[in-house]
Amino acid sequence: ILQKCVCGHLLCLVLWFNLVPVMNGCPAKCVCYSEPRPTVACQQQGLFSIPTEIPVRSQRIFLQSNKLTVVRSTSFSSVHNLTVLWMYSNNISHIEAGAFYGLERLEELDIGDNSNLRIISPTAFRGLTKLHTLHLHRCGLSELPVGVFRGLFSLQYLYLQDNNLLALHDDTFLDLANLTYLFIHNNKIKVVTDHMLRGLINLDRLLLHQNRIIHVQQQAFNDLGKLTTLFLFFNNLTMLTGEAMNPLVSLQYLRLNGNQWICDCRARPLWDWFKRFKGSSSELECHIPTSLTGKDLKRLKSDDLEGCVDSPSEVQTSIFNTKARSGKFLSLDDPLVESIPRCCLSDNDKSSIISSKSLPDPSSYNSRQITNNPLKEKENISNRRSRAESPKQTQRSSNNFCRARKSLIWTKASSYHCS
Ligand SMILES: *[C@@H]1O[C@H](CO)[C@@H](O)[C@H](O)[C@H]1NC(C)=O
Ligand SMILES: *[C@@H]1O[C@H](CO)[C@@H](O)[C@H](O)[C@H]1NC(C)=O
Ligand SMILES: *[C@@H]1O[C@H](CO)[C@@H](O)[C@H](O)[C@H]1NC(C)=O
Ligand SMILES: *[C@@H]1O[C@H](CO)[C@@H](O)[C@H](O)[C@H]1NC(C)=O
Ligand SMILES: *[C@@H]1O[C@H](CO)[C@@H](O)[C@H](O)[C@H]1NC(C)=O
Repeated sequence: ILQKCVCGHLLCLVLWFNLVPVMNGCPAKCVCYSEPRPTVACQQQGLFSIPTEIPVRSQRIFLQSNKLTVVRSTSFSSVHNLTVLWMYSNNISHIEAGAFYGLERLEELDIGDNSNLRIISPTAFRGLTKLHTLHLHRCGLSELPVGVFRGLFSLQYLYLQDNNLLALHDDTFLDLANLTYLFIHNNKIKVVTDHMLRGLINLDRLLLHQNRIIHVQQQAFNDLGKLTTLFLFFNNLTMLTGEAMNPLVSLQYLRLNGNQWICDCRARPLWDWFKRFKGSSSELECHIPTSLTGKDLKRLKSDDLEGCVDSPSEVQTSIFNTKARSGKFLSLDDPLVESIPRCCLSDNDKSSIISSKSLPDPSSYNSRQITNNPLKEKENISNRRSRAESPKQTQRSSNNFCRARKSLIWTKASSYHCS
C-alpha cells in the first residue's frame, strides 16, 4: 500500500496509521485518556468504520458524528468493561447480531440519529441488564420487534422519538419496571392499546405528542399510577374516557391541546374526570360542534354537553375531509373508522326517549334528557354560545401550565412551545 502511495508524505502517514495499530494502544484519529475513566474519544473524525484496536480496558467509547455504516459483531466483543457507548449521528444502517453481546456493564447506549437504521434485531439488546439509558431516536424505525426490550430491568430512560412507528406490540415494555422516561413523540402511532404500556409501573413521563393517535383504549394507562407528565398534544383524538384517565393518580402535567375534541355528551366522562383532576392541563379546544369550536372543553358548562350534535357519519366527514379530498377514502374496515366515537345515544336512552314522548308534561324530563334530533340540538347548543367562558380565562390557565412546566428538568430531545 505504501508503495502505491503517490501522495504527499503526510497523507501517506495518515493512511499508514489507519491501517496499522499504533504503539500506545490508542486507535488512529482517537484520543485516549484514563481519568475519570478509561475513555476512547473518536467523535467527529470522519471515520467510515469502527476502529478495530480499541483498548480492552476502555469504559467509555465516543464515536458520535462520524460516517459509520455498520456495527460488527466483533466491534466491541473484547471491551468487557464498557459502560458508555455513543454512536449517535452516524449513518449506521446495519447492526450485526451479537454486536452488544457480553457488554454486561453497559449503562448508556446512544445509537440515535442514524436515520438509515430502520431495523433493530429482536435480540440486539439481550443481556444488557445494567443498561439505564437507551437512545433510539431518529433511526427511521417503523416497527419495534417483539421482545426487543426484554430483560432490560435497569432501564430508566428510553428515547424513541422522531421515528416512523405506526404501532407498538402488546407488552413491548413489560420488563421495564424501572423505566421513568418514555419518549415516543413524533411518530405515527394511531392507537394507544390496552396492553401496549403494560408493566411501566414506575413511569414518570410519557411523551406521546405529535403522533396520529385517534383512540386511547380504556385500560391503556392502567399501570401508570406513578405518571406525573402526560403529553398527548397534536394528535387526532376526538374523545378520551374518564375510565382511561382514572389510573393516573399521580398526574400533574397534562397536555391535550391540538386535537379535535368532540364537545357533546361524549365528552362528559372526560369533563367529569377534569372536575377531580388536581394537576395542570393545557386547553382542549373543541372541534365539534361548530358553535363551540375553539372553546376549552374542560371549562364548558354542564349544559353544553347535553345531547349529541352530529351523526357519526357527519363527524367522520368533518374530521377526515382532508383525507377524502386527497382521494384516500376510508374503508369500513379501516381502524380509523372503527374508533370514531359513536353518538352517546344508547339503545336504552332511545327507549327512554320514546317512552317519555308519551308523557304529558315536558317539565318532567330530567336535565340530561337527550333529544333524538341532531339538528334541533345543534340549534340549541348554538344558543348557548354566549354563556361560554371568556378567552382571558383560557389564556390564564395555559400560562399557569407553562409556568409549572418550566420548573421541570428536561433532558435533550424534546420540544414544546410555551410563550
Ligand atoms: C474491568 O474492571 C474490573 C474492576 O471493575 C477490573 O478488575 C478489570 O481489570 C477490568 N478489566 C479490564 C480489561 O480492564
Ligand atoms: C449513508 O449510507 C447510505 C448507504 O447505506 C448511502 O447511500 C448514503 O449516501 C450515506 N449517506 C451519507 C450522508 O453518508
Ligand atoms: C429495578 O426494579 C426492581 C423492582 O421492580 C428492583 O428490585 C431493582 O433493584 C431495580 N433495579 C434498578 C437498577 O433500579
Ligand atoms: C391530525 O392531527 C394533525 C395535527 O393536530 C392535523 O394536522 C391533521 O390534519 C389531523 N388529521 C386528521 C385526519 O384529522
Ligand atoms: C331547544 O329550544 C327550544 C326553544 O328554544 C325548546 O322548545 C326545546 O325544548 C329545546 N330542546 C332541547 C333539547 O333543549
